[in-house]
Amino acid sequence: MTVLRSALDSGSAEYLAAAAAMDGKLTEIEGEFAKAVAGGGPDKLARHRKRGKLTARERIELLVDEDSPFLELCPLAAWGSEFQVGASVIAGIGIVAGVECVIVAPDPTVRGGTSNPWTLRKNLRVNDIAMENRLPVIGLVESGGADLPTQKEVFVPGGRMFRDLTRLSAAGIPTIALVFGNSTAGGAYIPGMSDYTVMIKERSKVFLGGPPLVKMATGEESDDESLGGAEMHARVSGLADYLAADEQDAIRIGRSIVKRLNWTKRGPRPRAEVLEPRFDQEELLGIVPSDLKIPFDPREVIARVVDDSDFDEFKPLYGSSLVTGWAELHGYPVGILANARGVLFSEESQKAAQFIQLANRKNTPLLFLHNTTGYMVGREFEQKGIIKHGAMMINAVSNSKVPHLTLLMGASYGAGHYGMCGRAYDPRFVFAWPSAKSAVMGGAQLAGVISIVGRAATEAKGLPFDEAADAGMRAAIEAQIEAESLPMFMSGRLYDDGVIDPRDTRTVLGMALSAVHNAPIEGADGFGVFRM
Ligand code: COA
Repeated sequence: MTVLRSALDSGSAEYLAAAAAMDGKLTEIEGEFAKAVAGGGPDKLARHRKRGKLTARERIELLVDEDSPFLELCPLAAWGSEFQVGASVIAGIGIVAGVECVIVAPDPTVRGGTSNPWTLRKNLRVNDIAMENRLPVIGLVESGGADLPTQKEVFVPGGRMFRDLTRLSAAGIPTIALVFGNSTAGGAYIPGMSDYTVMIKERSKVFLGGPPLVKMATGEESDDESLGGAEMHARVSGLADYLAADEQDAIRIGRSIVKRLNWTKRGPRPRAEVLEPRFDQEELLGIVPSDLKIPFDPREVIARVVDDSDFDEFKPLYGSSLVTGWAELHGYPVGILANARGVLFSEESQKAAQFIQLANRKNTPLLFLHNTTGYMVGREFEQKGIIKHGAMMINAVSNSKVPHLTLLMGASYGAGHYGMCGRAYDPRFVFAWPSAKSAVMGGAQLAGVISIVGRAATEAKGLPFDEAADAGMRAAIEAQIEAESLPMFMSGRLYDDGVIDPRDTRTVLGMALSAVHNAPIEGADGFGVFRM
């Protein structure tokens, strides 16, 4: 019997305090998300509606299958920057005519739906998701193109947007552009590079240069319709494959294009009958203590996330601060690596490397649950070869070819963040709980290191050390690192694909697993040279 048991007491003071802290953080995050949903604000929204247009979110809602979920990605992109939260674009995975698709919709109420540096990063991130997981891409286009004041950061790297579209097409992944409004200058290449293009009568405007630019360039007098109207592109240039009567008609045509793609997922299908976890998923709210120095048992999380709470633990008696084992999630097999007591030692690293190789042998996706302060430091551990063993784990993670999903539950510090498949290791998806914190090390430790180094340098010069200035510096650095470690900050920089409510973990991971199964699931044949 491999069904987990739970020791969680949801009436205990510890549980209630942790749940209350998590609730507070969730409220804060919801407040930020509301800013993204509000788009350009009431005035811009009213003007948009007066023009008889649907909002970007309404377009998505009509496009996806009725009552189907939409996994919004990077909703807090650009948080903490000078730009609107959400980065003036809505992106995610939705089900259209039964097919999981990446949907990208610029928000025309936010600076004309233009692309600032964060919009670009978000667009490129979702293109990667489409490519790796073989998901058709639907663009709901209405954008003023590059955000001109920040063009220096957008123009050169922005070329990848168009490159990605044609590479997706070359890989056999369909790309569809439904053009709701402006798609001019560089933006004209979005319909230009897509497999299918739908334009809307008297609405779509697709040209390389508008009338003023044409006048400047060649002296020719022209107008929007003859330069780039939908009728012209449908009847004359041939850039539009379908001419829609209005927005709803364009969405209907988009859905019928997807229906006729004859799309089949290349990964194995999930088990048909799935048992829900035996423990209440609501309780995921109070598992992580608000003080991350207090350890928690990740099995309590696993028990509330995997099918039937059934977890077949691998090597439970060895390297016990990393829990490894096999389970199913919404009927898909997964291997799970979860930090138990924060620090990774040599044993944990070796166990992880072996486990990752086994998952690759049996083509099983991996789920990484983070709560680590990193690899163990100190004389004894260095002499035992912690660098070699950590490198072994990082080697296995880097060269593993099965899909990886990463969830930051608590701490995610130092090289532990790498070994547990942080963003730089290309997990197919990274999500964070509001309780997560990620940085090179904790704020106090980082400030302490700078202080020790500063003190040694001052003493070496034979100068007196200013204790008061040092204390002030340490407090300031600690506060800065603390603020930069928080999930909103990390999510704003697109270091994750979204901060999720812990109670949604099973649903979100299930959707992510379903999405990755659009591509074949094939493990690696070889790894880098392992140092033994
Ligand atoms: N860069 C930065 N800001 C832009 C912008 C751009 N390319 N295009 C529009 N904006 C801003 C506007 O200044 C305005 O800002 P405000 O809200 O502070 O007043 C806001 O976006 C909305 O623009 P507005 O023109 O009022 O909206 P609209 O819906 O009537 O028209 C566009 C939207 C995109 C069609 C129109 O603004 C436009 O043609 N922009 C220039 C497009 C362009 O040449 N892009 C370069 C492509 S490489």
